[in-house]
Amino acid sequence: MTELPFLPFAKPALSEAAIEEVVATLRSGWITTGPRVQKFEEMLTAYHGGRRALCVSSATAGLHVALLALNLEEGDEVITSPMTFAATLNCIVLAGGKPVLVDSEAGTLNMDVTKLEAAITKRTRVIMPVHFAGLPVDLDPIYALAAKHSLRVVEDCAHAIGAEYKGKRIGSFGDIQVMSFHPNKNMTTGEGGAVITSDADVISKIERLRFHGIDRNAFNRFAKSGSQQYDIAMPGFKYNMMDIQAALGIHQLPELDGFIDRRRRLADIYSKELSSWSEFTLPQAPAYAHRHAWHLFTPRLQTNKAGLDRDAFINAMKTENIGIGLHYQSAHTFSWYKDQYGWQPTDFPESLRSGERIMSLPLFPTMTEAEQDRVLKSLEKVLGRV
Ligand SMILES: Cc1ncc(COP(=O)(O)O)c(C=O)c1O
Repeated sequence: MTELPFLPFAKPALSEAAIEEVVATLRSGWITTGPRVQKFEEMLTAYHGGRRALCVSSATAGLHVALLALNLEEGDEVITSPMTFAATLNCIVLAGGKPVLVDSEAGTLNMDVTKLEAAITKRTRVIMPVHFAGLPVDLDPIYALAAKHSLRVVEDCAHAIGAEYKGKRIGSFGDIQVMSFHPNKNMTTGEGGAVITSDADVISKIERLRFHGIDRNAFNRFAKSGSQQYDIAMPGFKYNMMDIQAALGIHQLPELDGFIDRRRRLADIYSKELSSWSEFTLPQAPAYAHRHAWHLFTPRLQTNKAGLDRDAFINAMKTENIGIGLHYQSAHTFSWYKDQYGWQPTDFPESLRSGERIMSLPLFPTMTEAEQDRVLKSLEKVLGRV
């Protein structure tokens, strides 16, 4: 029998129109930040209810400049969740802050907001919740505590573009949101990200921070209507998005809601098929109204029932030619953070437990039902169900 091709856990869905737009950009003579970034920003702004979108080279860059724009001072605390990618904590440290963790909730793996107020101290400046897997975290209590303690909120929305909380699109309200357009995210620009906010001071700081601290953007400098003069208002980074990237985004954004619908259908099938399997604990939905963006489908392996641990399980699925993602090992267990902040494994027990058992099953908009069936059959085989 011929071997079936490797099925990755994520794959971008790029239309011919998107590919042609990249080629047209390459032929246009303007390939870095220019008219296509401007158009993509306008589209993102409209998608988020008119709140300003600022494109950057990645969500990591976006989180970094968003925190810098809030002028953190040495020792200022930023509260986040351990169930996240390293970029969330790294950016807090790189912006001069100190990460403070609140454990995740067992069912949703989002920050347990009932534990949030106890983590607030005199040094707290920012709350940085993560919408894990595209499931909106409970924002009302977070914004209520932010108002009570005069804190800023930077939402890590790397998984959550297109998600909704209580009938409102994530990014269409609140303080500052950061989106990711990495290729495994719900929409992609190759690499890329955006900061969404309506704070005029943050907008003007990010406009400078993302491009050397220069007061005019490159497009103005090089276009006929622009000027060669500029001033350096502050030292900045090289975090601009290129038109080659925005060319993809211009075509991905109108498809996003359809992508999410398709992800939801596949997630529903996983939930239905796996609901009676004792080897898995499935992700749970919160009671409040929401639209899950289904960036990831993350069951946790019940190792005592499965008869093998998570890492052995991932390797066994690999031999079946199926890619399984790992989102995430709890951030508090990584050596630099442990050494720096003295965090013990059991300080965040829910995140520790989940981080040792979690996996991401293949889920992407172009995944066929036959491919999903292949995943389910391989799960049965690896777990000795057949
Ligand atoms: C929760 C979270 N935050 C931030 C990032 C960083 O995104 P980017 O790769 O666009 O820098 C990621 C990327 O995987 C992420 O999953």
